Amino acid sequence: MSTYLGLDIGTSGVKAILIDRAGKALGEATAAAVEPVRPHPGWSEQLAEDWWTATLKAIDALSNTHPDAIAKVRGIGLSGHMHGATLLDSDDNVLRPAILWNDGRASAECAEMEAALPGLRDIAGNIAMPGFTAPKLAWVRKHEPAIFDRIAKVLLPKAYVRLRLTGEYVEDMSDASGTLWLDVGRRDWSDALLEVTGLTRAQMPRLVEGSAPAADLKPELASRWGMTGTIIVAGGAGDNAAAACGIGAIRPGEGFVSLGTSGVLFVSNERFSPNTAGAVHAFCHAIPDTWHQMGVILSATDSLNWLSHVTGRPPAELAGLAEAQFTGPGEEIFLPYLSGERTPHNNAGARGSFVGLSHSSDPGRLAQAVMEGVTFAFRDCQRVLNEAGTSVGRLLAVGGGSRSRLWLKLLATNLDTEIALPADGDFGGALGAARLGLCAAEGADPGEVMTMPIIREVIAPDAGLRAAYTEQYGKYRALYPAIEQLR
Ligand code: XUL
Repeated sequence: MSTYLGLDIGTSGVKAILIDRAGKALGEATAAAVEPVRPHPGWSEQLAEDWWTATLKAIDALSNTHPDAIAKVRGIGLSGHMHGATLLDSDDNVLRPAILWNDGRASAECAEMEAALPGLRDIAGNIAMPGFTAPKLAWVRKHEPAIFDRIAKVLLPKAYVRLRLTGEYVEDMSDASGTLWLDVGRRDWSDALLEVTGLTRAQMPRLVEGSAPAADLKPELASRWGMTGTIIVAGGAGDNAAAACGIGAIRPGEGFVSLGTSGVLFVSNERFSPNTAGAVHAFCHAIPDTWHQMGVILSATDSLNWLSHVTGRPPAELAGLAEAQFTGPGEEIFLPYLSGERTPHNNAGARGSFVGLSHSSDPGRLAQAVMEGVTFAFRDCQRVLNEAGTSVGRLLAVGGGSRSRLWLKLLATNLDTEIALPADGDFGGALGAARLGLCAAEGADPGEVMTMPIIREVIAPDAGLRAAYTEQYGKYRALYPAIEQLR
């Protein structure tokens, strides 16, 4: 029986998963990547070579544990962290460390780009935000012109891995949406948007739909893993659209809340539905004729990781302390803008805050405030998606933070919606990528392949806490403008 390989190129590592034709997971492996470096506050960079090293490690590990299943791979799908600018010269040499999705250096360039092309938001369907790829290129053009002049291709992280796997430059529509060079409504590169950063189509990869074939695996790699015949590599998806494929959120109104390093509130749409006023991301989905919206917060579990560094206690222990003493909103309020914020503020220069500290503010109470602050940031995302006319129904929870019961209860109560927890397995980008690989290799209908997982449990809003949290959320909302005014 044929099998399909999904690869999720994450900021902290690569995950590989093997599935069969029925979509059942047969095995998985992970390989850590070297963590991003922050050469200046607000910057975030990683070496493209590290993604490739981790990719090989993860597939080799899977090949050691599942040699028979991996030999039967017919299709491969890729998921990747979005927006990262990987700059190549004409010999495919990487010109500088990749500038990542959570890098905020390009704020001035965003304003300059919007001034240079007043119709930018209409074409791109999105605000120029420093996390997106095009402003990073405007920054390189201004500050590193010698590098800019040598750029032959700009690839996103998973397209770089695809280049190493296949020798071809190809990108899918969902990830390409986050570059700010795509006409998202027309699903094509925009010459006008490219021109704003002094680039042309020749420097862009070829575009395909996520569920369509993109290129073939190099024969020498196929034989390294015992694979035979032509192995198709699918277009794949940006990690959020891939996660949506993994949990079956491809029909209008279906969505998820992702508590990962970044936090994402994701909803599928049948048509392109921009709302630039609220810094909503309006992107192509990974399957044809489908779009999606996202509210993106830059430090979700990363906020708890930060508190863990500061207190010297592991994140899980902090979450446990918070849960053990939880009775409702506390005195402390946390603003999670450690890397600036995208939705709803679009302010790379925003910074985090703790207010309401007292002698009673112990690690458990601080952890609760951090989890509440991230939850309020999701409530902000829901508010602007609602303003765009999108109503969010029951949400599936994905990402490492969804292991905390308290966090899920806070989310259900604040978003006033049921949060569903998948029964088992990891429904992140890797599974969605494998499903896209299956669609591309077999020509299968994505609607049949992208099924919803079995739900282990549904966490309902706590009606008794809702009013107290609405009051606390009001204070949280008032803090951002007050603190920004003073900085
Ligand atoms: C989405 C975004 C993040 C990255 C992280 O716009 O920037 O979710 O894709 O993986």
